[in-house]
Amino acid sequence: MTHSARKGGGEGGGGVGAVSGWWGGGWGYLKTGERGGPRRENVKGMSARVALVTGAGGGLGRAIALRLAEDGFAIAVLDIAHAEDTVELIERAGGTATPYPVDLRDATAVEDAFDAVGELDVLVNNAAVYPTRPFVEVPLAEYDEVHAINQRSYWLAAQLAVQRMPARGGSIVNIASMTMHGGWAELTAYVATKGAAAALTKALARELGPREIRVNCVSPGAFPTDAEAIHPNPAEYNDFVLQHQALQRRGTPEELAAVVSFLVGPDASFVTGQTIEVNGGWVMT
Ligand SMILES: NC(=O)c1ccc[n+]([C@@H]2O[C@H](COP(=O)([O-])OP(=O)(O)OC[C@H]3O[C@@H](n4cnc5c(N)ncnc54)[C@H](O)[C@@H]3O)[C@@H](O)[C@H]2O)c1
Repeated sequence: MTHSARKGGGEGGGGVGAVSGWWGGGWGYLKTGERGGPRRENVKGMSARVALVTGAGGGLGRAIALRLAEDGFAIAVLDIAHAEDTVELIERAGGTATPYPVDLRDATAVEDAFDAVGELDVLVNNAAVYPTRPFVEVPLAEYDEVHAINQRSYWLAAQLAVQRMPARGGSIVNIASMTMHGGWAELTAYVATKGAAAALTKALARELGPREIRVNCVSPGAFPTDAEAIHPNPAEYNDFVLQHQALQRRGTPEELAAVVSFLVGPDASFVTGQTIEVNGGWVMT
């Protein structure tokens, strides 16, 4: 199968206009593949483009994976937990996905997963951990772990992805956090990794532009996922969020996923090296 014959989603190879069926060939168009390997074929026997999403078993990652599947991508669902659950949801909705239950701290396992996926068009670096502790009490081992998952894995996955992207190019989205702008007490290691994700985005965009690989960053505000469990009083935290946002309602994971969809899609074909804030008007940069 040549790249030009591949169809079903992703950014424009050979010019955006060359991609047919961007939306029309999406949801309900891909057939369910077999387990055990990357599934790429759509009902016309043509290959869907492939997107790998890390942390896709979690709140925002799952929404991103579902949205990109709806856009027509075959999804590689990489997460240490709940990867199968996300695959099931995507398949139930008519999409195509393969689980990769991998620990991002294990570089060999990560590389094996990328080898199994093979050629890919889109990487979304989204997995993260967020232990809270007063700065002076953070053990170095915890700092190292946060960096291994939230930062080193972003760098490694980007390298493995770029090595497997086709000549027409591809797209990478790194998920950062609004906290990189305003800080957040007792979350120092996490916040440092999120600033690094935004900086890595710019360095990669600069270096990979000549290969038509676009690299952007999405910086979420406060979304109701498991991550909110770090705040002990949910009602109080909800009020706190609304006091700070311009929009007086909570954002949904789907609203975050829509921005990722835009960034990896043809309408963002001239956008690279940017950080998009998705926070209901909390931090305005
Ligand atoms: N929810 C928010 O309000 C919010 C705000 C700002 C930024 N973010 C960012 O959004 C992204 C997604 O966060 P979320 O809210 O969905 O959190 P989440 O905890 O629901 O999801 C994170 C996922 O990462 C996976 N993961 C953790 N360690 C891993 C490892 N070693 N190997 C493989 N996978 C691993 C987890 O299993 C989990 O499924 C993160 O980068 C987070 O920093 C979230």
